[in-house]
Order: sequence, then structure tokens, then C-alpha cells
Amino acid sequence: MNQLSPSTVPAHVAIIMDGNGRWANARGLPRAMGHRKGVEAVREAVRTAADCGISYLTLFAFSSENWNRPQSEVSDLMGLLKTFIRRDLAVLHKQNVRIRIIGDKTNLSGDILPLLLEAEETTRANTGITLVIAFNYGARDEIARAMRALAVDVAAGRLTPGEITPERIAAGLDTADIPDPDLIIRTSGEERLSNFLLWQGAYAELMFVPEFWPDFSRDTFLSALSRYAMRERRFGGLQPAATLAVGS
Ligand code: FPP
Repeated sequence: MNQLSPSTVPAHVAIIMDGNGRWANARGLPRAMGHRKGVEAVREAVRTAADCGISYLTLFAFSSENWNRPQSEVSDLMGLLKTFIRRDLAVLHKQNVRIRIIGDKTNLSGDILPLLLEAEETTRANTGITLVIAFNYGARDEIARAMRALAVDVAAGRLTPGEITPERIAAGLDTADIPDPDLIIRTSGEERLSNFLLWQGAYAELMFVPEFWPDFSRDTFLSALSRYAMRERRFGGLQPAATLAVGS
């Protein structure tokens, strides 16, 4: 952790927690055990992120496509998320963690929505790390919802098409008041974004680590942050040395 100075710690890290099923398969265990172990990795990741001074940690907990999994696995995942909120909310609140939920909150059945809203409401005024849970989230769906709202404004004459700017689109996304991620990590060796933060991740550093999510330890996280600290981000501009050479 010694290479991590505050100036190189990303403000916002987003993680695609992949590989729970394969972690379980490799041990001859049911997939549900992989998800259960994954929740322990979630706890450790939140602690590590807070200790390192990361301001926002976004976790991809359930995608809008995950409903296509077998019913038993969907209910396992719902059950784990509900248990996490019921058991951990008080501790997270005490640790000054602010919880935000992104994703489509309409048409959610059962008691999941009230729990998610309670987590957001209870921790609204907290000033520590913001834990963003992406639930029923899909980036294309999020962008389509934002576009529909803008189309309504245009149809009602409140906005002209020319006034639709990247800033207005960003303001209509679920992440409106959350800075873009600096670093997106995906575990399990898969190298794709799977419909996660497609707009917000335009300039994010991408990191693909081989560990399955249940094995994503504090050390794995710290080593990813050290590698991030060595990346050079240019946002479409020139690297500082080249800028100097041109100017001198
Ligand atoms: C990917 O593994 C993981 C998920 C689809 C869900 C992640 C959810 C949790 C860790 C638990 C609940 C979340 C919180 C925030 C408490 P996979 O099943 O796709 O693994 P595989 O690719 O090896 O099959």
C-alpha cells in the first residue's frame, strides 16, 4: 500500500464481481455457495476502499439480464442482497457509509425495493465512502430511460433537440450526481464490460484480474490500485512530457 499516495488513489472504483459460480464449481460446491462467499468479498472490498480513501465504490450486484438465470439462482441472489442489507446496514451506517442504488427501480416485486430505499434513506446524510449498488442495472436500459425523459421534454416544448448535450444526457442517468469511474475492475479473467457503466466509463481505466470474485481480497484490491497508480491518463489529450516538448 506504500505506493498509494492520495493523489494516485482513484476517486471512483467500479467493480464487475464475476466468477462466483466458477469459484464454487472448482470446489465441487453449489453455485449459491460462491455467491455467499462473494458477499464476504463485498464486505472486505468496502472496508479496503474506505481505508484507501476511495470516495465511491460501485458494485455490479445484479444486472437487468440476470433475471434470465434459473429461478432458484435469482432467488438466491435476491436473498443474499436482502440479508446483506438487513444484517450490514447498521454497521455500514455506523461506519459513515452512504449507500446509493442505481438501476431500474420500477416493476420490482416483493420486499427488495423497500429495503433498497431504506438503505439509501438511512445513510443519505453520511459523509464517508459512497457505496453504489448497481441492481437491476443495464447501461443501455439506463441510457434509454434518460433518452425517453429528454424526448418527453422535447415533445412538451421544454427543450429543443439542439439543447441535448452530453451534460444533459449525463444529468438524466442514474449516476447524475456521482463522478465517472476512474477505474473499472472485472474479476475472473473475463475481459468485457457486459453493459456496465457504458456512458460513465468512457475514460475509465479498465483492469481485468484473474481472481474469481470470492478470492478478491484486500491484497488483490491493493495490487490493482498500485497498478492503476502507474497508468497514465490522457483523456484524449497529450501526455504531459509531450505537451512540454511541444511548448518548449
Ligand atoms: C457473478 O458471478 C456475480 C453475480 C452475478 C452476482 C454478484 C452478487 C454478489 C456478490 C452477492 C450480492 C451482492 C451484494 C452487493 C451484497 P457469476 O455467477 O456470473 O459467476 P460465473 O461467471 O463463474 O458463473
